[in-house]
Amino acid sequence: MKVLIFDTVTSAVEAVADRLAGKVAGKPDCVLGLATGGTVEPVYEALVARYEAGRVRFDQTHTFNLDEYVGLEPTHPMSYHSYMARHLFDRTDFRACNTHIPHGNAADPAAEADHYERLIKGRGGIDLQLLGVGENGHIGFNEPTSSLSSVTRLKTLAPETVRANSRYFEHQSDVPQVSITMGIATILQADEIALLATGSNKAKAVRDLIEGPLSAMCPASALQLHQKTEVYIDAEAAAELSLRDYYEAVHPGGKIGHP
Ligand code: GLP
Repeated sequence: MKVLIFDTVTSAVEAVADRLAGKVAGKPDCVLGLATGGTVEPVYEALVARYEAGRVRFDQTHTFNLDEYVGLEPTHPMSYHSYMARHLFDRTDFRACNTHIPHGNAADPAAEADHYERLIKGRGGIDLQLLGVGENGHIGFNEPTSSLSSVTRLKTLAPETVRANSRYFEHQSDVPQVSITMGIATILQADEIALLATGSNKAKAVRDLIEGPLSAMCPASALQLHQKTEVYIDAEAAAELSLRDYYEAVHPGGKIGHP
């Protein structure tokens, strides 16, 4: 695991955007795994800026999103379909046939989850997976105690996730309780992973995922098993790391490469 600590949120975000754009430049028909949430919104803004400046194009790139709320129509403003359209897909040249998000409104959501897992495999798997992390250590919607071997399936949201995500809904009771999410094993099958976490509210999850025990109580700790994971964090999210000096010596300013 490469732990990359940046002075500011902006420099961490720009580094992640460079990582994604660099992957697409090197392999235009690559498969990106994409995430939602407040943390990665500025990453998409930075990708749109690169696209508008003619520095990257996405017309051959495939995407699979991590998750979607069960019960929301794709057109619902708080669905992850709408999120992706708003922040990235409608502002760039991604082709609709190449972008995939689980259908939360499927008549049989469990069958939709199985189908989604097969779709990812059929596409040859994910080259680079973008991740955020929940305050409770979730990745995708794999809440604490999710099986570390899980694949795409239905998952009930933890109460703290419902509370955290209620800021996007009018009432907390409007937040869907169930999601379709890639499993932890699905995520670990990606060739490369880039996780972005910023802000002091993520410091504990960041500590647990990097330095804590491998445990289903912190689903993101499963990334310790992955050979090519980069964790991009700002100073606030790095605040609880006990080996911070070591990470900063190995990757000064978040740069990959030895000092
Ligand atoms: C959401 C998503 C995750 C995301 C996380 C953190 O519920 N399912 O993919 O990483 O919670 O969200 P935020 O970046 O808004 O803190």
